[in-house]
Amino acid sequence: MTESHRNSSRISKAVIPAAGLGTRFLPATKATPKEMLPVVDKPAIQYVVEEAVEAGLSDILMVTGRNKRPLEDHFDRNYELEEALRRKGDAQRLGRVQESSDLATMHYVRQGDPRGLGHAVLCAAPHVGDQPFAVLLGDDLIDPRDPLLSHMVEVQEREGGSVIALMEVEPSQIGLYGCAAIESTGDDDVVRVTGLVEKPDPAEAPSNYAIIGRYVLDPAIFEILRQTKPGRGGEIQLTDALQKLAFDEKLGGPVHGVVFRGRRYDTGDRGDYLRAIVRLACEREDLGPDFRAWLRRYVTEEM
Ligand code: UTP
Repeated sequence: MTESHRNSSRISKAVIPAAGLGTRFLPATKATPKEMLPVVDKPAIQYVVEEAVEAGLSDILMVTGRNKRPLEDHFDRNYELEEALRRKGDAQRLGRVQESSDLATMHYVRQGDPRGLGHAVLCAAPHVGDQPFAVLLGDDLIDPRDPLLSHMVEVQEREGGSVIALMEVEPSQIGLYGCAAIESTGDDDVVRVTGLVEKPDPAEAPSNYAIIGRYVLDPAIFEILRQTKPGRGGEIQLTDALQKLAFDEKLGGPVHGVVFRGRRYDTGDRGDYLRAIVRLACEREDLGPDFRAWLRRYVTEEM
């Protein structure tokens, strides 16, 4: 058990890196952060903040950069709009507008140059201090009905060290992700991580367990990140720092993986983004019935 785990009270801080350039979604992301793209009628980032709050983490630090002002505005009050809706007596829409500003205590830090996910996490060090903390990638949407983060927090509180989220993918697809070498713990949903490699050649990948965008980290990660040199793509990779933690337990305790088998969408990828919208829209009580009927007609008659 590490020093930081011995001292830990319940994890309360979440860090959301949202400073990436979003090049896969250009030109939509030229002047708009990809995290603000709507998934049905809420920006993708709001689902992520709601997930953190649902897991009991209400102190949220968002790592932002240039062009990311709309993110701050979305989680702030908009008095003019609220007043206009109040005058109209539109209580329902007023509630929807106020939801995002009442969700959590939001803090922001700017990354400056987007030098990689590891560097974005390092920007959170002064805010986080010496307690374990969660990291949720701003463009990774976990279906609200398939809770993951709360389970990861439980595993961290029980085992100490760090916990990452893993998902089994087709072996041919593993080169698109960070990949974990694992050992069984006897629990189907929790594995011991013995090594990590970023975007491996599928022929050399140690498994088909891909890292997805949720982490609960021991603060020892910050010192390791300070010493981590730019890796793949010239970026400071979080996976490289986690590999050091997994390799040497004395640095910050063990690394466990929670295996996720639920619904997850990479909203920074155009195909996955469309799938997220269709699926969530189909399942909405207000929009679903009409949308499903239209979709059925479209698929049978026009495709
Ligand atoms: P991505 O790998 O999706 O990169 O980052 P990206 O730049 O955002 O998007 P593409 O690939 O150009 O389309 C994964 C997560 O890490 C954050 C991103 O905002 C995203 O949530 N990130 C990445 C940072 O905060 N800073 C960085 O320097 C890089």
